[in-house]
Amino acid sequence: MRNYAEAPLGIFDSGVGGLTVVKEVLMQLPGEDFIYLGDTARYPYGPRSVEIIKKFALQNARFLMGFGIKVLIVACNTASSVALDEIKRWIRIPVIGVIEPGAEEALKTTKNGKIGVIGTVGTISSGAYQEAIKRLNPGVSVYGKPCPLFVPLAEEGFTEGEIPEKVAHFYLDELVQQGIDTLVLGCTHYPLLYNPIKKVVGEKVEIIDSAGAVVRKVKKFLEEESLLSSREHGTGRYFVTDSPERFARVGAKFLNKKFGEIRATKVDL
Ligand code: DGL
Repeated sequence: MRNYAEAPLGIFDSGVGGLTVVKEVLMQLPGEDFIYLGDTARYPYGPRSVEIIKKFALQNARFLMGFGIKVLIVACNTASSVALDEIKRWIRIPVIGVIEPGAEEALKTTKNGKIGVIGTVGTISSGAYQEAIKRLNPGVSVYGKPCPLFVPLAEEGFTEGEIPEKVAHFYLDELVQQGIDTLVLGCTHYPLLYNPIKKVVGEKVEIIDSAGAVVRKVKKFLEEESLLSSREHGTGRYFVTDSPERFARVGAKFLNKKFGEIRATKVDL
C-alpha cells in the first residue's frame, strides 16, 4: 500500500507571492516534499470577481491533485477568502486556507480586542477575515483595509525605505488611529514589507503573518494525523502558467535565493 505520509503537499497561489508560504514550509516542515503552482498567467487575483477566482482556484486544485498530494494549501489569501468552500466541495483531501489560521493567531495575540486586517481588494471586500475573527469571538472589533499597492511594491523590490513607508502611512495611519494592537498581514506579498509596515504601526502593534500561521496549522494537522514525512530533507517542484524566467527572478527575492536557483516548469491548465 502507498505510504500516504510520504506524499507531497500541494500549494497554489495566483503567482509568486505564495513563496512566502513555501519559505515557511522550508523552515517549519523541512522534510516535506511539495508541489507549488503559481498561476502567473492569470495573476493578479486581487481585483477579480468571485466567480472567476472560484473557477481558477478549482483548476489549480485539480492540477495539484494529479500529483497525489496529501494536503492542499491555498496560499493565496484572495482565493482562500472566496473559493475555499468551493474547493472543499470538489476536492476529497484536506484543504487548508490562510484565513482561519490568521484569524486564530490574531485572536490569541490581541489584548485590547481591536484587530486590523490588510489584504487585496478581493480579500477585504469579501469580509472573510472579518467574519472568521467575529465567528470565533464576536466581542472584538475588526478593521479591514485593502492595500493594493503593496503587491507591486513587493514584486518590484521596493521593500525598504521612503517609498514603501509613504505608501504604508497612506494605508495604515487610519488603522493606527483606531487603536488596533494587532495587524494581520492578509496577503501573500505583505511579509516582504514587514519593515516599513512595522515602522509605521509602531512597537505596540503586533504583526500576524498569515503565511507563518497557515504552515503552523498544517504542521499541527500532519502531527495529529500521523502524516508527517519521515524524510530529513524534502524536495520542492515548481509549476507556473506563464514565464518561468520572471517567476525565477521575482521568486528569488521571496525566498532569499540567488537568481537561477528556482526552476519552474510552464504548464497549461
Ligand atoms: N496572492 C494574492 C493574495 O494573497 C496577492 C496577489 C494577487 O492579487 O493575486 O491575496
